[in-house]
Amino acid sequence: MQQIAFVTGADRGLGLALSAGLLERGWHVFAGQYMPDWPELAALLGQFPESLRLVPLDVSSMGSVRAAAQAVASSAGWVDMLVNNAGVISTTSAGSIREPQDYDKIHWLYDINAVGPLRVVEAFLPLLDRGQMKRLCFVSSEAGSIDRCRRENWYGYCMSKTALNMAVKIMFNHLRLQGYTFRLYHPGWMRTYMEGSKNTKADMEPEESAAQAIPFFIEAQADEDRLVLRDWQGHVWPW
Ligand SMILES: NC(=O)c1ccc[n+]([C@@H]2O[C@H](COP(=O)([O-])OP(=O)(O)OC[C@H]3O[C@@H](n4cnc5c(N)ncnc54)[C@H](OP(=O)(O)O)[C@@H]3O)[C@@H](O)[C@H]2O)c1
Repeated sequence: MQQIAFVTGADRGLGLALSAGLLERGWHVFAGQYMPDWPELAALLGQFPESLRLVPLDVSSMGSVRAAAQAVASSAGWVDMLVNNAGVISTTSAGSIREPQDYDKIHWLYDINAVGPLRVVEAFLPLLDRGQMKRLCFVSSEAGSIDRCRRENWYGYCMSKTALNMAVKIMFNHLRLQGYTFRLYHPGWMRTYMEGSKNTKADMEPEESAAQAIPFFIEAQADEDRLVLRDWQGHVWPW
């Protein structure tokens, strides 16, 4: 039976690469589309017309998230794996505490990066309950690690990823007992569009990170009863 994934923020960057990689492995993918004018998802649909479905999704809107879950429910009876990948950064909220903070931007980062995945899990749980796999994946960041933090700025983004990690830990405490398994992933510094245009200075293409993420996401792990933040090289990060 074909396995079914839902991927948020699938228009470009890592979400697009994860969707493509899963399709190549024979998965059926529902791709959360935030940017209908961006052409890459439509091109992927041309390659996989039978197994890719595009679903409008804004993770900052509960109405949009519920409508996406409803759209998936009306064409599939279940979801095996949910990949919470959508995320944002803001270069205008990167200053140290001696500079004025952009508090609206900090709230916006928190709303999308930390609260967004909560909305998505809440809405998709009934579909995941009906799936065999019950896998919840989250793209976080080294920026959320308190122990390894050396930055003196970037409050909004770092705090949003730390909050995401806590949300995942609380879900893990609850849902692991109900048969769910969890993946928390730091993808590395990728040549993606987080700052508005493709960051050509970063270390790797998103496809390289997706190639490491996909086995981590879909294969069983030796210890499913321990939640860890793992990076693209397989290293575990401290909280
Ligand atoms: N790039 C890195 O080096 C890096 C490092 C560590 C962690 N990460 C994490 O990796 C994940 C993927 O990021 P990426 O690097 O692939 O960035 P990306 O190229 O910007 O892709 C993220 C996608 O999510 C979309 N999105 C933004 N707001 C959304 C919303 N409210 N609802 C649904 N989708 C929304 C983006 O649209 P817009 O382009 O219109 O915003 C974009 O299409 C994020 O969670 C990010 O925090 C990235």
